[in-house]
Amino acid sequence: MATKNYIPTETIDEIRSRNDIAEVIAECGVPLTQVGSNYKALCPFHQEKTPSFSVSAEKQIFNCFGCNTGGNVISFLQKHEGKTFIEAVEWLAERANIPLPTRDPKSTARQKLINDLSELNRFAVKYYHELLRTGQHSQHAREYIKNRGLLSQTVQRFQLGYAKSQRKELVKTATHQGWSIQQLVDVGLIKNEEHGPQDRFWNRILFPIYNERGVPVGFGGRSLSDAHQPKYLNSPGTILYNKSRILFNLDKAKQSISRKQNVLLVEGYMDVLMLHQHGIDNVVASSGTSLSEEHATLLKRYTPEVVIVFDGDASGIQAAQRGLHRLIGEGLRVRIALIPKGDDPDSFVKKNGVDAFDELVKKAINLVEFQIQSAIQPDNIRQPDVKAKVIKDIAEILVNIQDRFERTEYVKYTVKELEIDEGLLWRELRDLGLKETSVSNQGSKRTTPTRKLSAREKIEFQLIQTIIQFPEHLSTLKTQFHYQDITNPHLAGIAKILWDVSDTEDTIDMQHVLNTCEDDTQKSIITNALIRTKNNPNPSARIAGCIRELKCYIVRDIEHRVRLNTQAEEDGDFETLRQLVELSNQRRAFAQKKHTGQKQNTQQTDEVTDTSESADNIKKES
Ligand code: UTP
Ligand code: MN
Repeated sequence: MATKNYIPTETIDEIRSRNDIAEVIAECGVPLTQVGSNYKALCPFHQEKTPSFSVSAEKQIFNCFGCNTGGNVISFLQKHEGKTFIEAVEWLAERANIPLPTRDPKSTARQKLINDLSELNRFAVKYYHELLRTGQHSQHAREYIKNRGLLSQTVQRFQLGYAKSQRKELVKTATHQGWSIQQLVDVGLIKNEEHGPQDRFWNRILFPIYNERGVPVGFGGRSLSDAHQPKYLNSPGTILYNKSRILFNLDKAKQSISRKQNVLLVEGYMDVLMLHQHGIDNVVASSGTSLSEEHATLLKRYTPEVVIVFDGDASGIQAAQRGLHRLIGEGLRVRIALIPKGDDPDSFVKKNGVDAFDELVKKAINLVEFQIQSAIQPDNIRQPDVKAKVIKDIAEILVNIQDRFERTEYVKYTVKELEIDEGLLWRELRDLGLKETSVSNQGSKRTTPTRKLSAREKIEFQLIQTIIQFPEHLSTLKTQFHYQDITNPHLAGIAKILWDVSDTEDTIDMQHVLNTCEDDTQKSIITNALIRTKNNPNPSARIAGCIRELKCYIVRDIEHRVRLNTQAEEDGDFETLRQLVELSNQRRAFAQKKHTGQKQNTQQTDEVTDTSESADNIKKES
């Protein structure tokens, strides 16, 4: 079987088998309840009140019937912890104490550098933290912390630190501990200057910045006085720290975000700390940078909704607007809570308490509405040129909205607010590259744009589902049917993997299939089939039935194509006519067989209908 990495399949098998999926899922903070040999839980991937997330200890898979997510222990870590396939495998290997083969030299060197620099950062976090806690010359820093209302638990939890006023403190201590100047430069802790290496941070409170996996990647340093600028000095970009990929506090907040299916996005380090101190822990900070696409993707892993809590001053509002299209373009629901002018979340919650803050969040308005409202602001909106510009600005916002029903609602909203012609706005949207038009005439129901499977796809689904449950029938199937005849792309994708895996394996291991599969919908179709009880007494009859029905479609297809060709060519082409006759004979033969097949096995037919409802989990592009 093809491996997509440097670890052999057998090792991955061993790693997987030595990490029980239920244990791992529980360790990741999802409370499981045992039901027989399986487990149930509230799904960590979507909001629900009754559990539809189940884990099969026997099959070592998880599956949610609510949001159609599924996979094995590796897929779980990928989805829940945001790891890559390889990172997940490596993590599990470490957990089970299984040594891994060495990677190729280049990636080994890079990995070593990353490991070393992470270790150096861990050292620096401790070093600075100790200085803040107990340093002889840190009294004023401790005063500052106290004056800002930070408790010692908070200092401890966030491992806040203090860098002394002298410019060579870290250089001395770290090199004494065996770290090289080069390493210290590489990780951004010191700068090489004319008069030798100098600490980057001096006389500042340090906020360690961790990536979403809890590895310290850099620091933000707060000056202690207005005279010392800039107010915040951050680590430079390094191999570890890329500010468009880091959200401050995501490592500590991700569980809570996932549980609440909601994240509060604030601007600053202090906002995160103070909200945490008030028991609000689903908070991350963009730390003064504008939101990137990667930030949006990162958040989307954990939640469908973001509430931006920004300062009510002009720059806060601007900052909020900069991130808008990224978040919305990623399909996230975005609301905005504006803190009254003159405050930020930190000062607001300190002054007004947590209830008042919660109230602000509850009242957060939808960001698109907010955007539209702010675009409409200009006093001279009545002037045609201003109005035209406003329409263009709003169209830019609307074109980014993924859900067309939602988009239509906002089009209507805008039309009303601006008193313009709806057609005009749709034209503007089309000019910006939008393909579809209004859905308002189609009985706009608020559903996700999924389309029902065609009759043919339902049979394809039954076929693939049966093969997943009874893979021992695949070799026979392969002699009678080709996966390229499957029309549904998700099912064809699964079939291709099954076909490929069976080329190299005698007995098909569904875990290998899951490892090979990179498509979430495909994974969920597989686990969905696996986690259902196999109540089919005669899978081979079911498979044969599906093949018969599908062949009818296939022959009809060919017939259709031949007919089209004939129309384009001269009438009376003898060869084509012969083909047509041949084909319709074949079709009739299949149809007849199908008929008798059904008569002989009524039970099987019942089941065909029984499972077809689960075909709904194949999301379709509308
Ligand atoms: P703010 O200026 O709002 O600071 O910047 P703050 O978070 O309220 O901090 P305090 O309360 O004055 O201590 C918001 C965020 O922008 C980044 C920091 O991440 C800060 O937390 N920033 C700000 C910088 O990176 N550099 C700066 O000079 C200022
Ligand atoms: Mn502040």
